[in-house]
Amino acid sequence: MFSFITTVGCMTIAVTGASAAALSSYNVDPNSISVSGLSSGGFMAAQLGVAYSDIFTKGFGVFAGGPYDCARNQYYTTCMYNGNPSISTPTSNMKTWSGSKIADINTLEQRKVYMWVGSSDSTVGPNVMNQLQSQLTNFVDSANISYVKSSGAAHTFPTDFDGSGDNSCSSATSPFISNCNYDGAGASLQWLHGTLNAKNTGTLSGSIVSFDQTGSYGASGMDRVGYLYVPQSCKSVSTVCSLHVALHGCQQYYGKIGSKFVENTGYNKWADTNNMIILFPQAISDSSSHTVWNGGVLPNPNGCWDWVGWYGTDADQIGGVQMAAIVNQVKKIASGSGSTSSISSTSATSTSQTTISTTQTTTTTATSTSTGTLAPLYGQCGGIGWTGPTACASGVCTSYTPYYAQCLPSLANLLVRPI
Ligand SMILES: *[C@@H]1O[C@H](CO)[C@@H](O)[C@H](O)[C@H]1NC(C)=O
Repeated sequence: MFSFITTVGCMTIAVTGASAAALSSYNVDPNSISVSGLSSGGFMAAQLGVAYSDIFTKGFGVFAGGPYDCARNQYYTTCMYNGNPSISTPTSNMKTWSGSKIADINTLEQRKVYMWVGSSDSTVGPNVMNQLQSQLTNFVDSANISYVKSSGAAHTFPTDFDGSGDNSCSSATSPFISNCNYDGAGASLQWLHGTLNAKNTGTLSGSIVSFDQTGSYGASGMDRVGYLYVPQSCKSVSTVCSLHVALHGCQQYYGKIGSKFVENTGYNKWADTNNMIILFPQAISDSSSHTVWNGGVLPNPNGCWDWVGWYGTDADQIGGVQMAAIVNQVKKIASGSGSTSSISSTSATSTSQTTISTTQTTTTTATSTSTGTLAPLYGQCGGIGWTGPTACASGVCTSYTPYYAQCLPSLANLLVRPI
């Protein structure tokens, strides 16, 4: 992230395994999905949170990113280096595109936004983040925006523990993850999802799962393999889990820094004790040149998420190929809920990839037991010793204790609005 675009002196070519397992479905409440990211991943988190606000129902977190659509009408470097990018055209675009190229902008009133930046960040920086805040206050009540500035921190992902191989908080160098005595993952997750159980500071219960990021789960500039953290509790269909998407920044993709973003950011520690799955989609270095929004011709050698239009003029709109791939991943992961109404979206699919239904999908059998029966609304659907149905004919199976889970109405069913 030292430079978003320029080819670094020693370029790493990412090499990943030829194949990974197909992405699995889990019992995820469609009303408990959020996204956050650092730097280009922060810009991407805002793009996803705005364009697909009907999917990211808990809102979004931006670590050292910037305004939505910032690089379309001005050169991308204006949106970096602690500059002062204009937000007037980007903000009017949000209003113009509402309900067509992006989700209904009024949905943002119901979303939380978390923002973090280091005061010594000269790669993106506080001025750029201030402009994001100004832009979002057009749509989100300031009471629902948490904006944290950490004194002395550089362009890096802040944690409160020493991860193996991390850089110091005051320097922007690989892997761009630092002990800043500030738990960024915990702060963002708790702002977006509400108070959480204390994180697991010891050995985690769950596992890191690789998955095949090709087909409708992949796009230009993305690696063939992505990663999930799945806590032990979420491997069982009887536990209702939430889902958070964590997006790495430039030079932080798996082929460049291995598992450091997946393991050293601290998201998994919180996920482990809170029935939360973390999705880590992966970008990849791309040295071929592309015409970007503002007319320049640029490669993407640092494996940044697309916030400048490398992979289409619609890169920050519904159907932008990278966003559509990530949303398809989210929908697949959340399709095992047994809810009669799983995620519905305006139109999540990419124009150039396999399409999936844009109407409400119905998933009633995904988690049914061998008996093939479904628990009724308010009926028991799980718990130690329970031998009855573990999928709900209606609603979402909600675990109260290890011994009792019940089918409850899904809030998401009420919030889905046709656009
Ligand atoms: C803040 O967001 C919540 C949803 O998380 C919403 O219900 C509430 O109306 C929002 N508050 C304001 C003042 O807009």
